[in-house]
Amino acid sequence: MFLLIRAQELVETFTQASTLRRHLGELTRQGKRVALVPTMGNLHEGHLSLVDLANSHSDVVVATIFVNPLQFGPAEDLDAYPRTLERDLELLDGRGCHCVFTPAVDEIYGESLEEQTLVKVPGVSEGYCGSSRPGHFEGVATVVTKLLNIVQPDVAVFGLKDYQQFLVIRKLVRDLQIPVEILGGEIVRESNGLALSSRNGYLDSQQREQASAIYRSLQSVAAELRKGSQAIRELESKGREIIEQAGLRPDYYAVCNAETLKPAQTHDENLVILAAAFLGSTRLIDNQRLTRNTHSTA
Ligand code: PAF
Repeated sequence: MFLLIRAQELVETFTQASTLRRHLGELTRQGKRVALVPTMGNLHEGHLSLVDLANSHSDVVVATIFVNPLQFGPAEDLDAYPRTLERDLELLDGRGCHCVFTPAVDEIYGESLEEQTLVKVPGVSEGYCGSSRPGHFEGVATVVTKLLNIVQPDVAVFGLKDYQQFLVIRKLVRDLQIPVEILGGEIVRESNGLALSSRNGYLDSQQREQASAIYRSLQSVAAELRKGSQAIRELESKGREIIEQAGLRPDYYAVCNAETLKPAQTHDENLVILAAAFLGSTRLIDNQRLTRNTHSTA
């Protein structure tokens, strides 16, 4: 009885795209502004802050929970990826999310994952996570395009922790002329600086301390860049060293132009430092954006 009452209180969930479309169509006809927050579930405060941002830009927030097989490589953690639906629904409900789309894989991909039309975004999807995880951004771009087509939101919100993903999505929306505003939600961190991630759940408390070295390295390199250092390659090595000294294995560490993700040039003002590293078999990513004054004589 208790369970039944709780279930009735929870946010409305949909598993069929057609039913969700009908529901949202009615709200749109009433003039409501719809926001989409795509997730793979196992929600934490980072996701919930995206729901807050979505709520401040819309009347109706739709979150999606879908562990997208197309964005996982054959040796990656698709099967182990934590699925915590009941808890996720409670968290979304508590944060004022209006409805949740939780499709099965065949609702999104039909009979065959292999014979899918894929969305490939050139340029910003190349290098970094694009090199380390071949096919990953095609998987992300394809599922996000599908979710945008199903929900047809006015605005969609993505976390800036996955900064390269954010640029990929912004470009795909522009290139395919999808009428949606894309917003980025700031990174939420633990008190030691570690960026919140569903994959932090694979780490014990000592490893979380070790992993905070990624944030420390980003702060240290960003401080030098803000002071005007042009020694980009040396700074990248220094950042990598801080991570290695904490017992992590860097995957990439790069200071880039924040719009193109090309290696930073002396005249670039808007920069992003992108970092990825392994702790055991857990792969963590983080970044730090910064603006520097290239006219200073420092
Ligand atoms: O960032 C994520 O959680 C996923 O890549 C996304 C955007 C939900 C697509 O599956």
